[in-house]
Amino acid sequence: MKNFTNYVDYDKKENLKMGSKLVHGALGTEPLTGSVSFPIFQTATFRFRGLEDSLGYDYTRCQNPTIEELERTMAILEEGTEGFALSSGMAAVMCALSILKPGDHLILSDDIYGGTYEIALTTLAENKIETTFVDLSDLEELKENIKSNTKMIFIETPTNPMMKVADIAEICKIAKEKDIVVAVDNTLLTPYYQKPLTLGADIVVHSGTKYLEGHNDTIAGMVVVKDKEMGQAMRNFLKYQGACLAPLNAWLTLRGIKTLEIRMQRHNENTRKVANWLRAHPKVKKVYYVGFEDHPNYEVTKKQTTGFGGMLSFEVDSEETAKKVIDKVDMIIFAGSLGGVESLITYPMIVTHHEVPVEVREKLGINERFLRLSVGIEDADDIIADLEQALQ
Ligand SMILES: Cc1ncc(COP(=O)(O)O)c(C=O)c1O
Repeated sequence: MKNFTNYVDYDKKENLKMGSKLVHGALGTEPLTGSVSFPIFQTATFRFRGLEDSLGYDYTRCQNPTIEELERTMAILEEGTEGFALSSGMAAVMCALSILKPGDHLILSDDIYGGTYEIALTTLAENKIETTFVDLSDLEELKENIKSNTKMIFIETPTNPMMKVADIAEICKIAKEKDIVVAVDNTLLTPYYQKPLTLGADIVVHSGTKYLEGHNDTIAGMVVVKDKEMGQAMRNFLKYQGACLAPLNAWLTLRGIKTLEIRMQRHNENTRKVANWLRAHPKVKKVYYVGFEDHPNYEVTKKQTTGFGGMLSFEVDSEETAKKVIDKVDMIIFAGSLGGVESLITYPMIVTHHEVPVEVREKLGINERFLRLSVGIEDADDIIADLEQALQ
């Protein structure tokens, strides 16, 4: 049997710097024909040569060369052993959570992505999996909430939209003493700025829809693990739930990853400029941005990441101003999602957190004056000019 794995010479790529790894992926060039753009193997099934004689592929839900190229690329980038490409970020979150059994207890960031929050309250609750939402930037609060049946801590850092930062290495130390699995949703910073597996985490989850693919034109999810046994559980979820990524979407994600370095650098730079500008605006009461030196978790950010990313949130002086900004932005697009080349603004109270109970939402600070901005890679001056006219 000779499949594409036989051609991989990972060792050669190990010494490459991150920007080159992003461009060249796992195999990079397709080895049979030399196609520089890894082809889209747009097939549902593969021809067997004879009984017990295949080329290593039989059915796209189980294996497909384009999907494998993405999975291996992500394993390399996150420094894990195996990657898994799923049909969406939500499927990736479900895949990571699939190792929990009835009676287990799960701790999640209190300011977690709304969809993950919903999974906890619906699917997990129905399956008798207990959940507790904890401010994971507070290690004492975490310790107080660990129970004898706690099996997993699911971290999102920075959180979205409140931009709280959890200390991944310290949480992993606490978790390891008690045999608790740590999963990190790394959507916001990507392996370009943060590598949770190298800090002790067991599972990394992504909405590939965001920065990885980066162009607001597909839905995708990724999981990467360190441990082979856990990898088998993830593969089983993927195969038996049928949550595989389509080959075209795998290819789009691979293509997006090639430019991740320059996009992340530009997101980072633009966001710093926009955050500083917003902070000085008289109608802006507070800016939530992990790159501010006076951010409460700035030291943790500096320790575990190499950049601040492209997200910020801000609170304006009134509900009227917030609604006016949403109405008046022109180049900046009022839309859900984040992480693409276009700047997107959203009103979390109504768009992303409408299902979250009012008291929880308000405790977090998501009120009627609160806006979230995914800063794109346009010219920063144009983003600022658009905000300026919208805030007038
Ligand atoms: C941090 C985070 N995780 C997971 C998801 C879910 O991803 P998807 O929309 O690709 O299913 C999102 C979506 O917004 C997200 O922001």
